[in-house]
Amino acid sequence: MAVRKLNERVFEVGAIDWDRKLFDELVHLPDGTSYNAYIIRGSEKTVLIDTVDPTKENVLVENLKSLNINKIDYIISNHAEQDHSGAIPLILKLYPGSKVITNQKCKNMLVDHLEINDDKFIIINDKDTVSLGDKTLEFRLTPWVHWPETMITYLQEDKMFFTCDFFGAHRAASNLYVSSEPKVYFGAKRYYAEIMMPFRKQIEKHLQMIGEYEVDFICPSHGPVYDKPKFIIDAYKDWVSPGVRNKVLIPYVSMHGSTKLMVERLTDLLMEKGIAVKPFNLTTSDLGEFAMELVDAATVVFGAPIVLTGAHPLLVYASYFTGALRPKIKNVGILTSYGWGGKALEQIKSLIGPLKIEYFEPIQVKGKP
Ligand code: FEO
Repeated sequence: MAVRKLNERVFEVGAIDWDRKLFDELVHLPDGTSYNAYIIRGSEKTVLIDTVDPTKENVLVENLKSLNINKIDYIISNHAEQDHSGAIPLILKLYPGSKVITNQKCKNMLVDHLEINDDKFIIINDKDTVSLGDKTLEFRLTPWVHWPETMITYLQEDKMFFTCDFFGAHRAASNLYVSSEPKVYFGAKRYYAEIMMPFRKQIEKHLQMIGEYEVDFICPSHGPVYDKPKFIIDAYKDWVSPGVRNKVLIPYVSMHGSTKLMVERLTDLLMEKGIAVKPFNLTTSDLGEFAMELVDAATVVFGAPIVLTGAHPLLVYASYFTGALRPKIKNVGILTSYGWGGKALEQIKSLIGPLKIEYFEPIQVKGKP
C-alpha cells in the first residue's frame, strides 16, 4: 500500500500485485503486475481513473484514505475488464455521491459484469470533455486495446494520457516511472503480443490519433508510467508496422528424438545461412515468449510429431494460439515424424485459420530422419 505522486494534483493510488503469476488463467506473468488507478484533484471535482482488481480493493481504499479523499465526484472507467473495474461497486458504496463516466459499450459491460445501477452512469462520446474546475478531461474511444469498449482519457492541462491496458506492461515494480526501458519494453511487447496483436490495424489508427496530442506522460494501468512516452509510442509503431524480420520460430515437441533431430538440423542450417532462428520446446517453453517473437517474425515451422492419428496436442495448442493472435508471419512450415501413419499438416492449417501465409511443402518422416 503506497500512494505515488505524479504532481501536486495527480496521484497513483492502485495496487501492485507482486505474486500474481497468471492472468485470465492463460497469460504467464513472470514479473507480477500492477493495477494502477489515478486520483486527479481539480479545483471543483475529484476523479478516480479506473480502479483495481477486486482482490486488491482494500489497497485502493487505504490509499484513498491516506490521501484524505472524502469525496469522489467521478469514477472514469476506461475499460470494463474486472482488473480495472472490479472495485467500482465498492467505491460507489463508499462514495455514494460519485458517478461512473464511461462510453455506452463500456457501461453495458459494467452492468453485465458488475450489476451497477443505470442511474450511476454518465455516458460520454468520442472527444467529449468534462471540467474538473481548473482541469479538463477529454475522452477518446480506442476500441480493441483490449476489448471493444476501451477508451483513453487525456488530462489536457498536464498533457497526460491515461491509457489503461494500452501501452501497459505486466510488471510489479516500486518505481512510479520507467527506470529500465529494456525491461519495460520486454513486458510491454509481451502484453501487446498476447492481447493486442490481433487488432494492430485499429491500433495504428489510435497511434495516429495520439500523435495529434502533446503528450508528456502516458499513465497505463499496468506497469510503470512513461515520463518519456516516445519510447513506448515508437515501440508500438514498430510492432504494428507491416514489416517482418527474417526470423524463424520453431515450436516443437519430440517424443522419441526424431522431431528433435529435424529441428536441430534446421536450426543449424538456418544459422549457417545467417538467418535468425529460435526453437521452442513446448514441454518447457513459456508460450508468452513465443507470442512475443510472433510480433515480428516472418516464419514459423511447427515440429509436430504424430500422436495416434494427429499432431501432438501441444502443437495443436500452439497452432491454434498462433492463428488466434493473427501475427504478421508470411510463411509456415511443418516437420512431422510418425511411426505408422497420421497427418498433421491439414490439422495445423485449419487451426491456424485464414491468415495470408504461404505453406512450405511439409517434411514428413517415418521413423528416424
Ligand atoms: Fe488489464 Fe484488459 O485488462
